[in-house]
Amino acid sequence: MEVLQNDRLIRAAKGLPVDRIPVWVMRQAGRILPEYREVRAKAGSFIGLATHPEWAAEVTIQPVDRFDVDAAIIFSDILVVPEAMGLPYVMEEQKGPLFPQVIRSQADVDALKTAVPEEDLAYVIDAIKIVKRDLSGKIPLIGFAGAPFTIFCYMVEGKGSKTFSQAKKMLYAEPALAHALLQKITDSTIAYLKAQVAVGANLIQVFDSWAGILSPSQYSTFSTPYLKQICDALTDVPVTLFAKGAFFAREEMAQLNCATIGLDWNMDIQESRRLVGSNKTLQGNLDPCALYGDYKTVETETKKMIDQFGTQRYIANLGHGVYPDIHPDKVKCFVDTVHNYSV
Ligand code: CP3
Repeated sequence: MEVLQNDRLIRAAKGLPVDRIPVWVMRQAGRILPEYREVRAKAGSFIGLATHPEWAAEVTIQPVDRFDVDAAIIFSDILVVPEAMGLPYVMEEQKGPLFPQVIRSQADVDALKTAVPEEDLAYVIDAIKIVKRDLSGKIPLIGFAGAPFTIFCYMVEGKGSKTFSQAKKMLYAEPALAHALLQKITDSTIAYLKAQVAVGANLIQVFDSWAGILSPSQYSTFSTPYLKQICDALTDVPVTLFAKGAFFAREEMAQLNCATIGLDWNMDIQESRRLVGSNKTLQGNLDPCALYGDYKTVETETKKMIDQFGTQRYIANLGHGVYPDIHPDKVKCFVDTVHNYSV
């Protein structure tokens, strides 16, 4: 059994008392850090960096050293899963991900494989091994994957979109096809997350970044059942579900076998606690734009947030990933404010 020197994140996720509120930041590794941009330049591209375990491990640990956060999150992307299933992507500079081929028919779904993580995603598994070695039990490591519905969006649409109308079209026009694809993604995701846990991921976060484009009943049909399969399959570590924009699904998610529910900044904190009940941990939810404010503002807004969440059964974070043009010192101010808040 691994003994963590700082296990606040895991204790909070499990509902055990903590002496200090654990805090980490979504997208803490990445473009906000000059030291990240240096390694990224050496790698030549995002994919070059993500597929090189030594470098991926290095940038995973950079924010730990700089910010003194209570967890590292493995540096990768949610889109490695479709690639492992046989649908490669490219990352276009300034534009984001693009899938040259997309899924539009049963034949397309049949042509996909269920990912074998030890082979198809060996570079992530190897990066986790290196990070675990280098952290030597100092803090926990968060593993992650995209939620099946969010991955489905990219595999059908082929790129980012405000509406994901091509992906949503399939839900209405060919629901059986949508379910076939969602199930295949889910099978790959479960195998992938189990492989991350097997090499030492201490907590898993599932990102349902496009949850908010669905109606409540569509969410119950096309997202929740697959999240349930993931939660039920991961019995060894706490699971955090972060469904951006899915304010309408908070009660439903609270019924799943997850430890923590992530909130975005549109979700009222006290209302969320009522809907979710007292048996789950909440994570979030400062508006990332609050970090554009001066240091005093960051402090005030962070304290206001904590006063609503309380100090127990709580993991401090932003309500979504940090924006690339935020100054790293503002992130440090956010983290320090959480840590200095007297419990
Ligand atoms: O520190 C961390 O949080 C770990 C790293 C991480 C990345 N992507 C690195 C990345 C994580 C957890 C992700 C998840 C991810 N990727 C999500 C879910 C979280 C969310 O933001 O809702 C989504 C939707 C993606 C898909 C994706 N990857 C997009 C849309 C883009 C382009 C836009 C953008 O934010 O840059 C990416 C690229 C990406 N993923 C970068 C990084 C550091 C930037 C690439 C670069 O360095 O050039």
